Parts: sequence; C-alpha cells; structure tokens
Amino acid sequence: MSTAAAAAAATAVTMSPRSTGYPSSCKPSNAGCYCKPPAAATISTLRCRSAVSTKGGPTAGRREEEEEWRRYLAPERLEVLAQLEPWAEANMLPLLKPADEVWQPADMLPDAAALGADGFHEACLDLRARAEGVPDAQLVCLVGNMVTEEALPTYQSMSNRFEGTRDATGADGTAWARWIRGWSAEENRHGDVLSRYMYLSGRLDMRQVERTVHRLISSGMAMHAPASPYHGFIYVSFQERATAISHGNTARQVRAHGDAALARICGAIAADEKRHEAAYTRVVAKLFEVDPDAAVRAMAYMMRRRITMPAALMDDGRDADLFAHYAAAAQQAGVYTASDYRGILEHLIRQWRVEELSAGLSGEGRRARDYVCALPDKIRRMEEKAHDRVRKEPTPVPFSWIFDRPVSVVLH
Ligand SMILES: [Fe+2]
Ligand SMILES: [Fe+2]
Repeated sequence: MSTAAAAAAATAVTMSPRSTGYPSSCKPSNAGCYCKPPAAATISTLRCRSAVSTKGGPTAGRREEEEEWRRYLAPERLEVLAQLEPWAEANMLPLLKPADEVWQPADMLPDAAALGADGFHEACLDLRARAEGVPDAQLVCLVGNMVTEEALPTYQSMSNRFEGTRDATGADGTAWARWIRGWSAEENRHGDVLSRYMYLSGRLDMRQVERTVHRLISSGMAMHAPASPYHGFIYVSFQERATAISHGNTARQVRAHGDAALARICGAIAADEKRHEAAYTRVVAKLFEVDPDAAVRAMAYMMRRRITMPAALMDDGRDADLFAHYAAAAQQAGVYTASDYRGILEHLIRQWRVEELSAGLSGEGRRARDYVCALPDKIRRMEEKAHDRVRKEPTPVPFSWIFDRPVSVVLH
C-alpha cells in the first residue's frame, strides 16, 4: 500500500494536528470516529463529530453515515459479491505473481552468502556511496513510503473486515480470500526491501524509523465504511494508484541523483502497485457494471469523506505534526502532490465510466454521480485559490528519521 501518499486534494492532504488528519480533540483509533480528515485549509473549521456528541451517544449524522454504509451488508448486496467469485478467480488472481517467479528482496540487495565477506563489504560500500547522493527530502519521502508499507498487518486486517470477500478462517479457499493472502504476500516484500536498503545505506536513524513503524501498526487506521466491500475496494483502488505514483516518482528522482540500485527497488515496487491497482480497479468496474447505483453511491460516500491516507496516524514520538510535515515534504519534492489526488480521481472516473452512468440509477445515485463528476473541477479551483492565497516561504523542518536534519517544506 501507500505511500508518500501523503498529500491529497485541495491544499493537499496535508493533514492535521498530531499527524492524524483529525481534530486534536478526536481519538479516532480509540473512539471509532468517522470524522472527515480535513485538508489543511479547512482544518480549523472542523469539529469532530464524536467529540460533539452528548452523553457518549453517537450523533444523528454519524448514525446516518453508519446506516448508509451498513446497507451494503444486506444479504442481497453481499450476494452480488458471492456471484462474482468466479469472475474474481478469472480476472483478479491472474494479476498475482507466484513466489518463484516474482522478485524478492534478496534479488535487489548485496547477497552476503554469495559475495563472501570481502565482496559483501565492497558491495555495501558501493551502496552507501550511491546513497550519499540522495537528497534528504527524497530520503524522508522514502521513509514515509517504507513506514506505510511496513504497516501491512493493518491493511490485511482491513481487507478481512470486508463482508462477503474476507478470509474468514485465515485459509479460505475462495478466490477473494486467496487474493487477499497473495496480495499481502506481494506487499510484504515492499517494506522488507526498503527497510534492508535503508539499513545498509547508513543514512537513517533506523531506531527512529522502526519506532515509527511500531507506533503506526499499534495505532491502526480509521477506515470509513470499514466492513463494506464496495467502499473498501474503491478505497484500495485509490490507494494502490497513489502508491504506484509515489514509488514511481521516487524511482525517477533517485535515479537522477545517481542511485540506480534504489531506483530499481522503487521501480519494482511501483510495478507491483500497478498490478494491484489494475485488480482493484477491475473489481470496482465490475460492481459499476452489475450494481451501478450502489457503486456510484459508495464512491460518492468515500470521496465526500476524502481518501484518508494509511499513514495518517504515523508518529515518531517527537514531532506532533509528523504526517503533515511528511506530506509537505512529499508535495515539495514532487513525490506525491495535491494534484496527484485529483488526477487519481479523474482517472478512476474515466475507468469506471462514471459520467456515462444513467440506466439503473435512483435519484440518490444520480446525485452521487453528479457530485463525483463535479469534484475534480472543485478540487482544482480550491488548489488555485490555495495557491493564490498562500505564498509562503519554505520552513526548515527537522525529521528524526534523518538525525534531525532539516528539510525545507512549505507549511499551510
Ligand atoms: Fe506496497
Ligand atoms: Fe499494492
């Protein structure tokens, strides 16, 4: 999963205090809050819905939200997924690669057993020399990507909350369950290879990086509509594309700075993410085909709440605004930017032919379609306004991952 997928729409998903994207009064991981992670421009005006509820009860708005996505757990809707299982077998599983055919982290890094002590030492010195050329901004983006990848247990758990497609026993034979396990196995290589590279490079405070991973997995992630496969597949389609963009941009940039080995690693990860994106985009396209009204309403639901980035809860124990700073660094470096968020949305609208939907749509479905299709222009206008309004100078922000060396970022 993703990513320097930090930034997002309008003024980017430069998320907010305590790096969660949530108002500081809200504790999403504890309270099950479904607050919208705000863009920087709107953060001061938002209130946590669970925080304003009285006597511990959920607000009417939250109840409505929950009722909306819980309708997707009705037997007739889950039956759609059951009917699609042969389709998933034929169209999703072939996008996974078997363990003996796909690259492994050992292919990407010096092999101590094959090279012998002297050869390994020499290869490590070469790796370190190349890594010296990677600027701190790109290193910070790389760590953000790696930390996000390393929180894989969170994402596998997330997939196993989707009713109708989850792996109920942990070893189910359904196509959906085999997809989840195969996808997780592929994803597992991403954090592994990045972590090993970073360790060998000698440029990072690995203990700080590892603490950040530890805390992120402990914190989890707040997912809108956490058990609905419709919403979940839309979310993951978005995320896989965001991840591919982020790793792909990192690959290009570090290659330009002379680190071909790291570029190869990031490029290989980006290629995996593209396959994953293709699979999830296909399944959502199928849902748009067989159940367009429910699909477009689920998409509108997710976009109204924004696509929360998986690393939104990252915390290094030092920087209270780590995620916002990381997002700003990704924006500044061009690794993942506000316009990427809009670009992904535009791409998915085209892929799923949302604009062409008409047959079989309810009034609510038509409103959802119109909302989704108008959203990219709205985001673009917000980007332009934010750009005109805020012309701030970059601020040096220290990152503990790189021994508190500062990276210049524009903070909103
Ligand atoms: Fe990944
Ligand atoms: Fe992926």
